[in-house]
Amino acid sequence: MKNSSNAPYSNFALPYSLTSEAYFSEKMADLILNITSSSGLKIKHIIDLACGVGTACLYFSNKGYEVMGVDISKNMLDEAEKKAKKMGYNIDWVQQNMKDLSVIRKADLVTCMYDSINFMQNNDELFHVFKKVFDSINHKGLFVFDMYTILGLGTCWGNQDQIHTDIPGHFIATKTTWDSKTKIATKTFHGFMQINEDWKRWEEKHVMSAFQLDEIKDGLTQSGFSSISIYGIDGFHLSDVSDSTKRILIVAGKGK
Ligand SMILES: C[S@@+](CC[C@H](N)C(=O)[O-])C[C@H]1O[C@@H](n2cnc3c(N)ncnc32)[C@H](O)[C@@H]1O
Repeated sequence: MKNSSNAPYSNFALPYSLTSEAYFSEKMADLILNITSSSGLKIKHIIDLACGVGTACLYFSNKGYEVMGVDISKNMLDEAEKKAKKMGYNIDWVQQNMKDLSVIRKADLVTCMYDSINFMQNNDELFHVFKKVFDSINHKGLFVFDMYTILGLGTCWGNQDQIHTDIPGHFIATKTTWDSKTKIATKTFHGFMQINEDWKRWEEKHVMSAFQLDEIKDGLTQSGFSSISIYGIDGFHLSDVSDSTKRILIVAGKGK
């Protein structure tokens, strides 16, 4: 599987890697390890779905876990691999659509961070990923992921045109749309990348969907997960979910 030149996270891979975007998942990885250690789960092997440029994988690897990073984007994985090589970490990188997740070795913990699950466009796709993840986890293992709520996607993405990135060699402006009926948001990246003396123009469209809490719970239960906890995340602290919650963290367990 390759990246076509305007596929999501093809041209965006390098600026993503260079900006602070990547540090979200480092903080999330730390939060997730705190949660899992208090659950008493013994973790050896972690799979990070939609691993992007590998920030969480590097963090887990540094803590001594065996790690596999899965992403649909070759360019994101290339950035991840470069970083891991430079830091001397041995991480398996796999280019796969999470809807087709298929692993040789099951994990004790599967993570998916920074709203990447919102890339699933409808309940069928979402539930399909849940089932694939369930099949990739060891007995008593956990699936921990964060995602935008409907309010979060609508307000954080919806109708917020902005200058997204302005760093030497990269300029990106984004235009967004939000449809409250379908709960689908789009963000079109209009990017400019300096190559020697010239500037290359590129464009990518990212499409994300939001889901009701009940839909998420039903999908996880139907996929076989037996314990499901949903928290609000506010500045990397867990809270109760309320009408004003924009991002949630879900901890789903396999087996009692
Ligand atoms: C917002 S980035 C998050 C990356 C990383 N988790 C982080 O926290 O920095 C979303 C990632 O999801 C990946 N992605 C989107 N759809 C995917 C799919 N269907 N299967 C696997 N990865 C996907 C993108 O390629 C991108 O790397």
